[in-house]
Amino acid sequence: MPPTSGFTVSRVLDAGCGLGHFRVPVREIFPRARYVGLETSDYLCRRFGWVQASIAGYAPKEGFDLLFCHDVLQYLDDKSAVRALANLGRLSRGALYFSVLTAEDWRRNADRARTDSGVRLRPAAWYKTRLLRHFRPVGGGLLVRRGFDPLLWELERPWTKGS
Ligand SMILES: C[S@@+](CC[C@H](N)C(=O)[O-])C[C@H]1O[C@@H](n2cnc3c(N)ncnc32)[C@H](O)[C@@H]1O
Repeated sequence: MPPTSGFTVSRVLDAGCGLGHFRVPVREIFPRARYVGLETSDYLCRRFGWVQASIAGYAPKEGFDLLFCHDVLQYLDDKSAVRALANLGRLSRGALYFSVLTAEDWRRNADRARTDSGVRLRPAAWYKTRLLRHFRPVGGGLLVRRGFDPLLWELERPWTKGS
């Protein structure tokens, strides 16, 4: 399949959006796109008008060109997180920006004074195995749906010395 150069972002889902920090940059970069914030919190949905549903079961009629799922899945139990990862695959028709706190992040990277404890600390491999069923990582937390081949300039792709 040839690289996709004319990728249009018309629908964006921020899964577990919290305060919706991605909303303003999405509006600036993709002014014509519809941003949907998805949340389980009653308070945040009332306050900001987000769609109230769990990532594990949200099933809109149409998919999304760009998904965000940032700092959310460590709050879900194993069964719900498995369903959420499969659902991200179903909801995506383009790219996913994904980040989660892993066991290794907690050991080595997180500032524990500013990071929620009492969450599910899973190994990165647990997420990678499930994400790879639907997505291909292209670096920097960005994954693209399998079968979708966006045009990336040479130095935008993952590279190593000598590659
Ligand atoms: C640490 S906050 C991250 C918020 C946002 N993604 C960010 O990076 O600023 C985690 C959010 O996930 C939401 N959340 C937890 N479980 C969820 C679920 N099953 N579906 C959707 N949102 C969920 C919580 O209500 C909370 O607002």
